[in-house]
Amino acid sequence: MESRLVAWHAEHAADFPWRRRRDPYAVLVSEVMLQQTQTSRVVPRFEAWIDRWPTAEGLAAAGLDDVIRAWQGLGYNRRAVSLHRAAQQVAAHGWPEDLTDLPGVGAYTAAAIGRFAFGAHVLPLDTNVVRVTGRTGVEFGPAAAEALMDLGREVCLARVPRCGSCPLAGGCPSRGRRYEPLRKQSRFEGSFRQRRAETLRLVAERARDVQELDGAAVNSLLADGLLQVEDRRVRLPV
Ligand code: ADE
Repeated sequence: MESRLVAWHAEHAADFPWRRRRDPYAVLVSEVMLQQTQTSRVVPRFEAWIDRWPTAEGLAAAGLDDVIRAWQGLGYNRRAVSLHRAAQQVAAHGWPEDLTDLPGVGAYTAAAIGRFAFGAHVLPLDTNVVRVTGRTGVEFGPAAAEALMDLGREVCLARVPRCGSCPLAGGCPSRGRRYEPLRKQSRFEGSFRQRRAETLRLVAERARDVQELDGAAVNSLLADGLLQVEDRRVRLPV
C-alpha cells in the first residue's frame, strides 16, 4: 500500500513553500500557522513572514507588537506570542533535545519538526494522517508523512472521500463509506473569539483607553499576553 501511495504522490505532491525550506525554524513557523488555519490561507502569510523574519534570531529580536500585528487575520492569536517566545528560546539556547519544551509546540508539532527538519523516524499524526491510517488500517512509515497529508486533504476527505481517485482504494476496507459531519470549528460570528479579535484589531491600530473597549475581551487578551494595560491605556506588548 505504501508503495502505491508513494507512486501517487510523485504525481500529486502539493508544492507548498514550506516544503522548499527544510530548516527547523521555517518548519516551526509553518506548522504553528497550520495548526488551526487552512493551507490555502497559510501560504501567502508564511511567505510574507519568512521574508520579514527569515531566522529564529530575526524573529526573536522583533518587538512582540509587530509580531502580533503580522499575525492578524490568521486567528488564534496566542500562537503569535508562543512563536515569538519559542524563537527567543531557540536564539538564546539553540534547538532543545525535546522540542515540546518550546512554547506552543505539542506532540504533533514536535514530530513534524523532527520529521521534516531533522529527518527523525517519526510519523507526525495530524488529522489527515490519522484519518487515512484509520480508514485503510495500514501502518505507514515516516517517509509517507507528506503523501498522507496530501491524500487526506485532497482525496480521503472527512465526509465524502473520493475513493474513485484514491491510489489505496483497491485494498481499502473503508472504500465507498460516507461519514457523518465532524464537529466543525465553532462559529466565529457573534462569538467571544470574534470579540477578542475585534478588540485586538482596535488596539493594534493604536493604543486605546480601557473604557473604549470590551472589558471581558481585554481581560482575556491580557491573560494571554496579547495586551498590556498601564494607567488605563491599553496597548500591544513590546
Ligand atoms: N506539509 C508539512 N506539514 C504540513 C501540514 N501540516 N499540512 C499540510 N502539508 C504539510
